[in-house]
Amino acid sequence: MLHGPNLNLVGTREPTIYGRTTLADIDAQLQQLGAELGVAVATFQSNSEGRLVDRIQAARGSAMAIVINAGAYTHTSVAIRDALLATELPVVEVHLSNTYKREAFRHRSLIADIAVGQVVGFGPDSYLLGLRAAAGVLARRTD
Ligand code: DQA
Repeated sequence: MLHGPNLNLVGTREPTIYGRTTLADIDAQLQQLGAELGVAVATFQSNSEGRLVDRIQAARGSAMAIVINAGAYTHTSVAIRDALLATELPVVEVHLSNTYKREAFRHRSLIADIAVGQVVGFGPDSYLLGLRAAAGVLARRTD
């Protein structure tokens, strides 16, 4: 579970858009859901594109799927896209807000076409739905 830039401020940052739930609360809910689903959840947040790339690279061989809210890097980062591709892991893209209802520059995602799917606009539930989706992808795997 990867959180990109400025998501450390969720809960106080633009609460009319992102809500009042903190990232710590979201991570706690993810751990609880992971336990219910029987999947181990590792969470990581960074404001740095390079640190996110390093963490994505480390996921290869240690994680079975990646759920990512890349924040603003969603719309700009070829490096994060390439790192995700290099892992060869299933990727689920999530966003707190419905990016398609917002400014035009948020409509383009460099992750969307390499992801299994997207969950956007449900606030913290986007993460929980994303985790359920990733667990479902793994459960349906045939290899
Ligand atoms: C976001 C949407 C992005 O456009 C924005 O830059 C963010 C948060 C979301 O979760 O809604 O930082 O990823």
